[in-house]
Amino acid sequence: MRISVIGCGYLGAVHAACMAKLGHEVVGIDVDSRKIAELAEARAPFYEPELDALLKEVQETGRLTFTTDMSAAEGSSIHFICVGTPQKKGENAADLSYVDAAVTELLPYLSPGDLVVGKSTVPVGTAARLSDAVQGQETEAHLVWNPEFLREGHAVSDTLHPDRFVYGVSDGSEDHPAVAALDEVYALPLSAGTPRLVTDHPTAELVKTAANSFLATKISFINAMAELCEAAGADVTRLADAIGMDDRIGRKFLNAGIGFGGGCLPKDIRAFMARAGELGADQALTFLREVDAINMRRRTRVVELSRELCGGSLMGKRITVLGASFKPESDDVRDSPALSIAAQLQLQGAIVTVTDPKALANAAKRFPELHYETSSEKAVQRADALLLLTEWQEYRDLDPYELVTSVSTPRILDGRNVLDSAKWRAAGWSYRGLGRP
Ligand code: UDX
Repeated sequence: MRISVIGCGYLGAVHAACMAKLGHEVVGIDVDSRKIAELAEARAPFYEPELDALLKEVQETGRLTFTTDMSAAEGSSIHFICVGTPQKKGENAADLSYVDAAVTELLPYLSPGDLVVGKSTVPVGTAARLSDAVQGQETEAHLVWNPEFLREGHAVSDTLHPDRFVYGVSDGSEDHPAVAALDEVYALPLSAGTPRLVTDHPTAELVKTAANSFLATKISFINAMAELCEAAGADVTRLADAIGMDDRIGRKFLNAGIGFGGGCLPKDIRAFMARAGELGADQALTFLREVDAINMRRRTRVVELSRELCGGSLMGKRITVLGASFKPESDDVRDSPALSIAAQLQLQGAIVTVTDPKALANAAKRFPELHYETSSEKAVQRADALLLLTEWQEYRDLDPYELVTSVSTPRILDGRNVLDSAKWRAAGWSYRGLGRP
């Protein structure tokens, strides 16, 4: 099939490459000419495992091209909207200007029977509003909401082998013509048994925000338990192992630590609360305010613990932060808890050095006042304390016996509870985890 993908960020670039991998002829369109130039040379403008190799593979087939010219969408029968919906400045609500602009600019290039497929995360009600614009055209195109659940760091495999597909169509019916067309797009994963649900527009939009809210709640739940464990002298990692064995609860997303960040969970729960308020249902989501508050408290707690670890004062202490991205296997620093903690420590008088395998360039753009060091060996030299804040494998694998000779004082705060505390203590370190004795 001929497919256009509008918006080539974390979501769209991966989606375009994966659609070409599924055998379709794809054009990726974005207003950012720098991004398009890199993609056209088969280079991802951000770090995502497997993406560079996939871009190269599919571009060699000639099935994937990139352009800044919206008219290139003409002739495609399926148009995926993959632009961002960031948090509005000074408000909790989502900024829909990129989605609105993408659809408006696409309208002149639609043909009868085309499908406009929204993948961006939007407030419930957006699809119905955009559907009027799309169907109001002489073209009689259809609008489907088909939310994307990919995780950064696993984006390629999540797109090629998703847990489920959700198609939100105007009448919520299996017989809607869009259903057969999308089934053709996703024929390969569907034939491998991926479940697919057809819903109406608002349900499809809510599936995405509800899923992200549930995940955020799960993380804040275990972080609230970490607060209690600290007060009671218990170990939250063992608690999570034990409750996670109940398969109604499950162990995934029960890792207590410095909390969630990134371009999705924080802004999605806030936009969800804002939208519920507009719909007169704000009470239904007041618990998300607490989820957000527990999450933000983790950052303050780590600053306090770092002060304790450094003997009561941060002033002039050399602190090395291991990890800047919001999660491993990503160079994304949007709302990264690690970076926000690093910046707080610096403000409170510490001399902070940040290291990360992939995210330093993005981090330096966001917090130019921090000191960055690419080599982790150099970064830890003469440190008064180490803070492991993003659990990259290379930090999990650090050898406490080797490292002890590099630092000034062997103190480590394990912000993700991923190190073997007994081993670090045996090697002479003062070890602090979060929610662990
Ligand atoms: C999330 C959703 O998982 C995905 O389905 C959706 O499409 C987009 O938002 P992503 O933002 O890539 O994906 O990251 P995710 O793996 O969900 O992690 C989010 C944050 O939660 C990270 O900062 C991570 O470190 C943190 N986290 C995750 C925890 O603190 N504890 C956990 O147990 C799991």
